[in-house]
Amino acid sequence: MPSGKTVWPRLARPIMLVPALALLALAALAGCQGSPLALNPQSPQAGSISTLAWTLFFIALPVFLLVEALLLFTVLRFRNRRGAEEPPQIEGNRRVEILWTAAPGVVLLIVLWVTFQTMAFVLESPPESMQVQVIGHRYWWEVKYPSGNFTTANEIHVPVGQTVRVDLTSIDVIHSFWVPELSGKVDMIPGHQNHAVFRALNVGTYRGQCAEYCGVDHAYMGFLVFADSPTTFAAWVQNEQQPAAQPTTAAARQGQELFASSACIGCHTVVGTPARGVIGPDLTHVGSRTTIGANLLPNTPANVARWIADPQQVKPGNAMPNLHLRSDVVDKLAAYLESLK
Ligand code: CUA
Repeated sequence: MPSGKTVWPRLARPIMLVPALALLALAALAGCQGSPLALNPQSPQAGSISTLAWTLFFIALPVFLLVEALLLFTVLRFRNRRGAEEPPQIEGNRRVEILWTAAPGVVLLIVLWVTFQTMAFVLESPPESMQVQVIGHRYWWEVKYPSGNFTTANEIHVPVGQTVRVDLTSIDVIHSFWVPELSGKVDMIPGHQNHAVFRALNVGTYRGQCAEYCGVDHAYMGFLVFADSPTTFAAWVQNEQQPAAQPTTAAARQGQELFASSACIGCHTVVGTPARGVIGPDLTHVGSRTTIGANLLPNTPANVARWIADPQQVKPGNAMPNLHLRSDVVDKLAAYLESLK
């Protein structure tokens, strides 16, 4: 053997791949901590998608094992030996060729069949379904309840156990509605209506995320789905149907005047006031939401003030310009918005 050249480095590389891959898998799993998981379904629709995923996995697993086993067997059994004769060739063997063409065809037909079954099931909305409209904006979610005649943003409330049909469209570019634990991804396309259907099985809060790259804030285009008990949901609807509350503190009252006399009303609606803008989120009950900026920050007076003072610093690329307001003005506006419960 020539000096300096051993078989060790050639063997070492694949061996070192094993711990590297294990580390990568660990890192990926650690990154999933606290994230919604499509394999943790909380609705029959997500359950059917999860079942499909496992079905495909267990169809693919024996195929993978069989192919790898045959490959290893062939490589070892028929490796080149000194003086060995060429093994018998199977080119033109009709029986073998029909078999290995038909077998994958049959497997793929089964995959197609179970996929169609799942697609039909997850899009089925019985006539008694509750209807919600969600319209994608760069980079937030407009949410309309046609039956209750009110609009909100970024936080969708539904009654637990009720089938909900979410009609989806977009005002600008293609977004995608995805609540991993409740429903599959559905594209939101300008000028076109798609829909998603889910029935939440348990009371809880479920994280949703835009799943189609739509621009610089795509990753910050989140939302929440609250599956409420029927009484909590009814109370929420009743509150949403009211016009905006009148502020009770001096700061909030001053904030209300500043809001009504500034650029805010060009983009935002506050029902019961002159604010009728439709470019940004409806703020009629913004104080009752748990987050701001499309599930970016907890809804606290400090965060609302931070947002108003410099929205481009908090979420660069969003549609709200920096209005260069004095800090006392910012605080009064924040006090007013937080009073809109
Ligand atoms: Cu909206 Cu990505």
